[in-house]
Amino acid sequence: MHLPTHVKLVEVGPRDGLQNEKQTISLDIKRELVNRLADAGLPNIEAASFVSPKWVPQMATSTELMASIDRHPGTLYSALVPNMKGFEAALAARADEVVIFGAASEAFSQKNINCSIAESIERFREVAIAATSNGLRLRGSISCALGCPYQGEVNPESVVDVVKRMRDLGCDEIDIADTIGVGTAAKVQRVFEQVAKEYPLTQLAGHFHDTYGQALTNIYAALTMGVRIFHASVAGLGGCPYAKGATGNVATEDVLYLLDGLGISTGVDINAVVDAGQFISQHLGRSSTSRAGNAITARRASELAT
Ligand code: HMG
Ligand code: MG
Repeated sequence: MHLPTHVKLVEVGPRDGLQNEKQTISLDIKRELVNRLADAGLPNIEAASFVSPKWVPQMATSTELMASIDRHPGTLYSALVPNMKGFEAALAARADEVVIFGAASEAFSQKNINCSIAESIERFREVAIAATSNGLRLRGSISCALGCPYQGEVNPESVVDVVKRMRDLGCDEIDIADTIGVGTAAKVQRVFEQVAKEYPLTQLAGHFHDTYGQALTNIYAALTMGVRIFHASVAGLGGCPYAKGATGNVATEDVLYLLDGLGISTGVDINAVVDAGQFISQHLGRSSTSRAGNAITARRASELAT
């Protein structure tokens, strides 16, 4: 077992989290959330998504958001782009990294981006070339790598196949996404073992939703294999509009608590993330799903009372 000494956390709350909210969230709230997360020391924030506003209305203000946030010097700001139209918008908005997002399941690819896996790779090819020539970092995201809401089981070979195609497009990083949170530790290890034969483990990330309560365990399982990049969402926000029933990503506060306990550094201030989690939860009118965030908040309140 070789646990890493440092982990890079990619905060996806402002995108994966907020995209799923039915109520319209104002630009001011989005901006404050992103700024708080950057101030907390998060090195990479997925802040925007340049997709069709008819498909995901909440992300329609991505251009305005990217123009209004404070650019924290140590933070990389990422944006999802499904095609060249999205890429042009991300470039104009000064995204540091663009994320092409495909799937390991044909059924999900059709539902989410309205094309087959092969067609999506062709669209991404143009984006990859443009990203490289404009000096932008390129990340590939692979949905349904551990199961699909439409197809059910997804075998590791399908994930490996998409990893190879994204590698050949020149991705700097690839995330293995459990869109509906059905993965368990053994399956996570099997998939990472297979994909690491085709792409450097150090450039692979785990993106785990917590629907079945397995996300922290899955992170630990991946950590023991040497995976050192993980996605997380403040207050456990999130879900995918095209994966019904899927809950949010693993909460950033919970991942920070786990990593801190393992002596793994992240450079992120957990207290500041807890505050950001309380801020957005209050705005959304519900309590945070972060167990660590809520426990730290309760502890602070009891300390104040005594
Ligand atoms: P389409 O209908 O096949 O595309 O959608 P089209 O090229 O025929 O265009 C249709 C309309 O969309 C046109 O407008 C285009 O201009 C417009 P109209 O003429 O009807 O007024 N359009 C765009 N507008 C803005 N930005 C763009 C863009 N492209 C076309 N980039 C498309 C194809 C990919 C656009 C659509 O399916 C789409 O936007 N899908 C996005 C779905 C999405 O955002 N899902 C959630 C994110 S993925 C996720 O959450 C999973 C992840 O977290 C990992 C995990 O957990 O699995 C990443
Ligand atoms: Mg997701």
